[in-house]
Amino acid sequence: MAEIRVAILTVSDGVAAGRREDLSGQAIREVATEAGWVVVDYRVVPDEAPLIMRALRDWADSRAVDVILTTGGTGVAPRDVTPEATAAVVERPVPGLAEAIRLKSLEFTPFAMLSRGIAGIRGRTLIVNLPGNPQGVRQALAIIRPALPHAVGLLREEPTDHRPHAH
Ligand code: MTE
Repeated sequence: MAEIRVAILTVSDGVAAGRREDLSGQAIREVATEAGWVVVDYRVVPDEAPLIMRALRDWADSRAVDVILTTGGTGVAPRDVTPEATAAVVERPVPGLAEAIRLKSLEFTPFAMLSRGIAGIRGRTLIVNLPGNPQGVRQALAIIRPALPHAVGLLREEPTDHRPHAH
């Protein structure tokens, strides 16, 4: 299979304002590189739904990104709107990814139940919300990593392609 093309979206008022270093975005980049994925783009936006939606739409509709990994804005603070912004652009939800992240993350912290992150597909791009701290990013990516190459392989198939599946 061709290389998995990843885009990283850091959602954080503090990082966008230059008040904080983007350690979570860096953590995604490190894990992606270790996994052999190609990071094709990276953006930072504040916790504003229209800006989150625009970045997700741009990448998905460009057809140049297989997986968008967001970090931050999934909690219960008033400005945490990443799940709502993601849901607004997703065409087909993939709840199992978010379910697996929450379920397994409870082994690390009870606060995992406070992450409202979702996952879903727009066009041929998979979008996954990760929590907003570097440790959470690493833990969540370790949980979903085994399923990502197969997901991308399935997404890339033409709908009218009746050849047998290559597993
Ligand atoms: N999930 C994992 N695996 N590891 C973590 O450290 N942090 C939790 C949770 N999920 C965490 C996690 C915490 S403290 C919060 S508040 C929520 O994710 C939401 O984080 P966010 O608002 O920064 O996205």
